Amino acid sequence: MKQLLLNPGPVTLSQRVREAMLQPDLCHREPEFSDLQDRIREKLLNVYALPDKDWAAVILTGSGTAAVEAMLTSLMPEDGKLLIIENGVYGERMTKMAGIYGIKHECLHHPWGKKIDLEALESKLAKGDYTHIAVVHHETTTGRLNPLAEISTLCKSYRVQILLDSVSSYGAERLDFTEWPIAGCAATANKCLHGVPGCCFVIVNRNAVGNETPRRTLYLDLGAYLKQQDAGGTPFTQSVQCFYALDAALDEMEAAGGQLQRQRAYLGHMQIIRDGLLALGVKPLMDMSESSCVLHAYYLPKGLSYERLHDALKAMGFIIYAGQGDLAKTLFRVSAMGDISKEDMQRLVAAFAELLG
Ligand SMILES: Cc1ncc(COP(=O)(O)O)c(C=O)c1O
Repeated sequence: MKQLLLNPGPVTLSQRVREAMLQPDLCHREPEFSDLQDRIREKLLNVYALPDKDWAAVILTGSGTAAVEAMLTSLMPEDGKLLIIENGVYGERMTKMAGIYGIKHECLHHPWGKKIDLEALESKLAKGDYTHIAVVHHETTTGRLNPLAEISTLCKSYRVQILLDSVSSYGAERLDFTEWPIAGCAATANKCLHGVPGCCFVIVNRNAVGNETPRRTLYLDLGAYLKQQDAGGTPFTQSVQCFYALDAALDEMEAAGGQLQRQRAYLGHMQIIRDGLLALGVKPLMDMSESSCVLHAYYLPKGLSYERLHDALKAMGFIIYAGQGDLAKTLFRVSAMGDISKEDMQRLVAAFAELLG
């Protein structure tokens, strides 16, 4: 039976994306690879209509974590100071990275899933001498969409730049590269863009890279990638087949109406699931207005463990996702990314009804 992936990436692939990986074998030092890489870089900027004189997409081989780590290590100046906002696993992961690389930092901590306290953020920014903040756009831990517009207003008034983890939002959620003081934005091929795992990217503000990036890492140095990719090259071997897939996925997305249409489609899927589950007495963790369009978390029905729910749904062709850490005991998560339809979501609701009825 075909399994529909309703976990937050990797996603269910379209046939077109799957077949794109069967294109001819290609050496990453050949001009055909250079063309492929150029095309993808341009299409990644086109998702948010970004002019290439101000912005560049730097593509790396690795998962989303590699993009986030490259962004923090390459875009945080040696003498900079970072404020990391935590309200889930991925904010906390950035703190671990800053610790490992000796980046001067402090945290504004919140328990997982909690709203970012904007007053506390403002008082930190007013007191600290921060140059940058690092924040997760969509905290996939709980499905919370963090309020980037409000955070940006504060950052602008304290002249602080944003390093954004948009691994689970790029391509679907609204991102305002004009109004938000973004220095870098890390994302991946295999979530809202519907490519395969294996390549990730950072959208860098060209002004934020400068001539020299700090010497913290060899492999993840965005400065080196940017220089070579602007000249049609790549410092290291890239995951060629993943590039083929991403190229096709970006074409497919554009033909379907781009980011706005993707957001609309996800919202439609989420609404079907939410209405269906609510009717069965399954409650969401947070209000639709606080959630991303990409993933929602729900309380496990009374008396039903995640394992039993997961296994029963898997047997009916649906892969859902556990809560992280301790949340696994109380929550499950459902994402709407990938090549899935409204009818699939209706079938999912019917599967829940069969299980819970
Ligand atoms: C917001 C966010 N950041 C970072 C990551 C890490 O990505 P990866 O597992 O591809 O390394 C994820 C993965 O789900 C994520 O959702």
